[in-house]
Amino acid sequence: MDFKGILTCMCFLLGAVRGRKNVLFFAVDDLRPELTCYEGQDFPSQVHPPIHSPNIDKLAAKSLLLKRAYVQQAVCSPSRTSLLTGRRPDTTHIYDLVHYFRDLGGNFTTIPQYFKENGYISAGMGKIFHPGSASNHDDPISWSIPYYHATEYGWESKKKSWAAIPDDELKDKPLVDYQIAKQALKTLKMFAKGGPHEGTPFFIAVGFHRPHLPFVFPESFLQYYPKNSVKLPPNPYAPSQMPDVAWSSYGELRAYADQNRLNASGGINTTLPDTDILELRRAYYSALSWTDSLVGQVMEELKTYGFENDTIVSFWGDHGWQLGEHGEWCKHTNFELATHAPMMVHIPGMTDNGIVTEQLTEYVDLFPTLVEAAELEPMPLCPENSSEIELCREGTSLIPLIKNPKGLWKDAAFSQYPRTANRTKVMGYTMRTNRYRYTEWVKFSYAPKYKPDWDTVFGVELYDHGSDPEENRNVAYDSTYAALRIDLSVKLHAGWRAAIPPQNEQMKVL
Ligand SMILES: *[C@@H]1O[C@H](CO)[C@@H](O)[C@H](O)[C@H]1NC(C)=O
Ligand SMILES: *[C@@H]1O[C@H](CO)[C@@H](O)[C@H](O)[C@H]1NC(C)=O
Ligand SMILES: *[C@@H]1O[C@H](CO)[C@@H](O)[C@H](O)[C@H]1NC(C)=O
Ligand SMILES: *[C@@H]1O[C@H](CO)[C@@H](O)[C@H](O)[C@H]1NC(C)=O
Ligand SMILES: *[C@@H]1O[C@H](CO)[C@@H](O)[C@H](O)[C@H]1NC(C)=O
Ligand SMILES: *[C@@H]1O[C@H](CO)[C@@H](O)[C@H](O)[C@H]1NC(C)=O
Repeated sequence: MDFKGILTCMCFLLGAVRGRKNVLFFAVDDLRPELTCYEGQDFPSQVHPPIHSPNIDKLAAKSLLLKRAYVQQAVCSPSRTSLLTGRRPDTTHIYDLVHYFRDLGGNFTTIPQYFKENGYISAGMGKIFHPGSASNHDDPISWSIPYYHATEYGWESKKKSWAAIPDDELKDKPLVDYQIAKQALKTLKMFAKGGPHEGTPFFIAVGFHRPHLPFVFPESFLQYYPKNSVKLPPNPYAPSQMPDVAWSSYGELRAYADQNRLNASGGINTTLPDTDILELRRAYYSALSWTDSLVGQVMEELKTYGFENDTIVSFWGDHGWQLGEHGEWCKHTNFELATHAPMMVHIPGMTDNGIVTEQLTEYVDLFPTLVEAAELEPMPLCPENSSEIELCREGTSLIPLIKNPKGLWKDAAFSQYPRTANRTKVMGYTMRTNRYRYTEWVKFSYAPKYKPDWDTVFGVELYDHGSDPEENRNVAYDSTYAALRIDLSVKLHAGWRAAIPPQNEQMKVL
């Protein structure tokens, strides 16, 4: 090789190394898109105090902000498993908080695992996968260095659904999320100048627990939500004509001793006492702002170490949350409030001025997006049965939205939620189109088929977001919507593959 050749080769190598962008991957538990950066038509409820989320808003201002992103199933492990494998619940076969995708779905490559396999050091802390059996204890294959969990000093115990802890009592016994943020700072330092991993690209996943129940937070965060600023939800009743199967009796909240004492039945068109609702809302917002402050700390440190211009930052909440709207609480439903969640991606040099899109996007889209942003080998689209294929995707990279946030895109986003009705296994399949939410609750068979029986129907819902953004009127049984209902039913049964725009170049099947 001549001198010029050597130079070219060296430049290429240097470029390849330099081109490696780090990834900082935030996950937040039970965070609905009630953040100032979502203000407007995308807020979950019209009644809210001004939300204090300056750090997440600051990240949004330099990100591709996905104002209409939908989770694939509105509960922790199924949603996270789907996002982290880039495949939907009917492929991962994870619909609960117990089973592990590598046992039931296949030996699928996860986001952190793919970065690890591409020369990154992947490090995880807090809640990324659902802990315990659902992930064989944080999916060890995914991480290069031992996974970090914080110490629980008793603040997060099951007894009270919320607590404002005097700040000085937290000095010696910090909340778990505080410890997780500190671990993130420690981990970043390992990649900084003089650190043991200097020069190696990182994938650091930071999973915060709040605003999940119990809503525990430093008392000082109550200051952002004076008592009289917090209001009752505008629609404390179930949608008219709602089939019973759509309802969740929010046992997760009622299990806390302070709530249990109130004897709430969890039944349709009942809810909690007003004083309790106001307290819970205030505590949820305070816990949200507490998490926001920790996101800010980590982002600040990223800048201090000089990583801000070569680090991709993704941010998502694992699903929405019902905060008393419909008289409903927690997630566990197919309503807009449960399936719509916050997601954003900052890509240095591409999104610095902030791009807002109202396109319908899905949580399975994040995996191929990060892969494209980091310029790793792209992933093929999964075939119908991908149980034997380690690396493939059921989502679409969102990068084209950066250039054209209004271009032709998916015309529906798909989610699902399982139930038991009349001692029969039921799956609620739901679809958000630009204007409508359409849901069918049908008989479902689990292993080995994992298939709906579209002909055995337990309930249908159709909400017209054009005239009813709160989903208060189910018009599925209204004869004026009969023709539309048939169209939407055909589209729902055709599923997510039929909703991908055909001209999308990357849609080549494996
Ligand atoms: C799963 O995939 C990983 C990574 O390719 C591999 O190391 C492991 O042996 C596989 N496990 C099984 C049970 O096939
Ligand atoms: C719940 O209340 C709403 C509003 O009053 C009503 O339209 C709906 O029919 C009720 N649902 C049930 C199941 O009682
Ligand atoms: C809840 O039920 C218990 C047992 O029946 C009763 O003692 C208590 O007064 C009830 N509490 C409320 C708030 O109704
Ligand atoms: C990052 O980019 C911004 C904007 O281009 C610039 O002001 C800043 O100095 C850069 N930081 C580093 C560490 O290069
Ligand atoms: C998918 O393929 C695997 C391996 O060929 C097979 O065992 C499994 O039953 C198939 N799954 C479905 C749902 O058809
Ligand atoms: C479920 O059972 C109830 C009570 O027996 C019955 O009224 C209802 O029609 C059943 N629903 C379905 C979808 O079979």
